[in-house]
Amino acid sequence: MTPSDVKATLSFSDGSPSMELPLYKGSIGPDVIDIRKLYAQTGKFTYDPGFLSTASCNSTITYIDGDKGQLLYRGYPIEQLATGCDFLEVCYLLLNGELPQQAERDDFVKTITYHTMVNEQMQFFLRGFRRDAHPMAVMTGLVGALSAFYHDSTDIHNAQHRTIAAHRLIAKMPTLVAMAYKYGVGQPFIYPKNDLSYSANFMRMMFATPCEEYVPNPVLVRALDRIFILHADHEQNASTSTVRLCGSSGTNPFAAIAAGVACLWGPAHGGANEAALNMLEEIQRNGGVEKIGEFIKQVKDKNSSVKLMGFGHRVYKNYDPRAKLMRETCHEVLQELGLQNDPMFKLAMALEKIALEDDYFVSRKLYPNVDFYSGIVQRALGIPVSLFTAIFALARTVGWIAQLNEMIGDAEYKIGRPRQLFVGSPVRDVKPIAER
Ligand code: SDX
Repeated sequence: MTPSDVKATLSFSDGSPSMELPLYKGSIGPDVIDIRKLYAQTGKFTYDPGFLSTASCNSTITYIDGDKGQLLYRGYPIEQLATGCDFLEVCYLLLNGELPQQAERDDFVKTITYHTMVNEQMQFFLRGFRRDAHPMAVMTGLVGALSAFYHDSTDIHNAQHRTIAAHRLIAKMPTLVAMAYKYGVGQPFIYPKNDLSYSANFMRMMFATPCEEYVPNPVLVRALDRIFILHADHEQNASTSTVRLCGSSGTNPFAAIAAGVACLWGPAHGGANEAALNMLEEIQRNGGVEKIGEFIKQVKDKNSSVKLMGFGHRVYKNYDPRAKLMRETCHEVLQELGLQNDPMFKLAMALEKIALEDDYFVSRKLYPNVDFYSGIVQRALGIPVSLFTAIFALARTVGWIAQLNEMIGDAEYKIGRPRQLFVGSPVRDVKPIAER
């Protein structure tokens, strides 16, 4: 980061001494005010719940311009990556900073492919869960449990450990997600096949049975691969910030990624695609397109807790570029499956049209985000709604790892330890219980 020749001056109306704060410029995007010396010099903290105006780190991985609706992975626009690359190329890019050349790509694909199996003991974890456990409850357990097996890759400060842990996590997430799904439907686990691509392998582990061979549909595989690319990373979102904070204690990479899985589960974050589809299904049950007006009324009613799931974003105050690509993918998949008249898709398009015209949403810059269409695509692919967020976690694992490794590799990093504004009781004495 480059020191700016502009300085910020902080002064207080009560005559406390003012102080000068340096500014730093990034390569693109907002400058930052360096407040690292603020508390030492003023005895005061900054206050920013939800971190709306706070940069927690400097990063070279992903950049979002919320006003332009722009998303870059290592400088490459998401639109070009989603159409010109496959997910493992994007994984290589996020981990290493550059797109792979052919030999590098082949070597990376081979490495990931040969780590797709999980330790045979892992299947016994599944048996400890109820069959109707939510897949994200299972995934939170399974990902953390990986640290019980791979003792040769748990030292986050060892670069070789970080590399092998990254490869194992990227490779094994599809296997674990498919196992969570198979366990829930009472079907036998399907082992990975090394002659299939990453996304085709996942489709087969999900939908094949020992009774007959399963040939993945290339159009559907491509759609799934694109879903993975679109969800791979997204700056310092809630789950990525969780992984960074968790990893800053020096814990092993599997535990830090498990913390990210747990955070992503929330409906305001990665759980929104499941919530968006449940919302569409509920509108469909209550009368469909004709009844959208009533639903919109509830959303606008401040006394109702109803939100338009799949709309709005902390950073995008313009259309989420991933939503545009997801809508195209939706068309392709429904076309391939002869579902062009899918009522759910038509309902989604009608809801989007209203939201893009209604001043309530336009004034609040509530545009469709990546989660609005991803649920419809996944449903068309035969993926159950309860598995949507686990698929999101599968895709985001590479982003979490890249961000975690970037932090660990930063000589300046420290264990994260935010402070607070205390508004509780001043010091007081404990009275014996008879006198309370
Ligand atoms: C993801 O951070 C990331 O990058 C996340 C993500 C990633 O890739 O990691 O992009 C993935 O999490 C996408 C977001 C998925 N979540 C949803 O779709 C859930 C619905 N969206 C909302 O919960 C909300 O929009 C958030 C949480 C996404 C963003 O909330 P903000 O920026 O904190 O905005 P806000 O809650 O302060 O809302 C501003 C106004 C409020 O109204 P007023 O009080 O000003 O009258 O907009 C309203 C909110 O009530 N509002 C909504 C709304 N979202 C915000 N009203 C109806 N429906 C919504 N979806």
